[in-house]
This record gives sequence, structure tokens and C-alpha cells, in this order.
Amino acid sequence: MIKIGILNGPNLNRLGLREPETYGYETLNDLKHILVDESHRLDVEIDFFQSNHEGELVEKIHQWQDEGFFGVVSNPAAYTHTSVAIRDAYASTKLKVVEVHISNVYKREEFRHTSLTAPVSVGIIAGLGFYGYIAALHYLVQADHK
Ligand code: DQA
Repeated sequence: MIKIGILNGPNLNRLGLREPETYGYETLNDLKHILVDESHRLDVEIDFFQSNHEGELVEKIHQWQDEGFFGVVSNPAAYTHTSVAIRDAYASTKLKVVEVHISNVYKREEFRHTSLTAPVSVGIIAGLGFYGYIAALHYLVQADHK
């Protein structure tokens, strides 16, 4: 069974409370339940991880590589726009990364239009809410069969 990491960066533990007009009313736990259900349907193992700390996100990426994970559905949140460390962590692995943003970052402030992590990702999904995570998971499962 392939293993896929689901990475969520800073402030995403506040989903449901945080700027609901932008991120919706569903919580991180709701997202986890949706993805666990989907993983059973797809017969894939997922590891769901959220941290507000850059180094913990970097170490989780290393761990997934060492444990033979196939890919990552990655929302580095604000670190998308700033973190050379997360970008380098992905670049140091063979993980297939799909970057996901709940909001359409291109409709928002200009500082959100730059992603340091996009160049080490296979593709990017932005603005589709939680559905983006499901679509990314489906992509990675079919990519494994190619
Ligand atoms: C986000 C977009 C980022 O710009 C922001 O810093 C986040 C969430 C999104 O999912 O839309 O925290 O990654």
C-alpha cells in the first residue's frame, strides 16, 4: 500500500475560527476525517501532520522520505512564501509533492503570489477549498500506477 503524507503549516490548526470568509467554517479535524475516509476508499495509507514550526515541518518531510512515502499533499501555509528550508527539504527527497492552497492565493495580496515551494512540486491547486486536498490525493494515487 502506498503512503502519502498530508502536510499542513502554521495557523491551519485554527481553521474554522480563522478568517472563515477566506478559509471556510470547517476545521482541521473535519479535513482529517474527509481525507481518512477518502484514503480508505482509495486503499492508500495517509499520515496527517500539522505544525506551526518550520523545523518540525522539515523534519517530518525527512521522516516521510526515510519511511518510503510516495508523495505529499502539501499546504505549507505562510511558509509557502518564505521558506527556503521547506523547499530544500522537498528538493532533498524523491517525494512527489502536490501543493494545495485552500484559498485562491492569486486573488489575494501580492506577497501570496510567490511560492518558494511550487518549483519543487509536481503541480499546484489553489482556491478549491478542502476539495483541493482530495484532488491532490487522487492524483498521487493514480501517479503511483504509472
Ligand atoms: C494558504 C494561503 C497562504 O497564503 C496563507 O498564509 C495560509 C493558507 C491557503 O491554504 O490558502 O495560511 O496556504
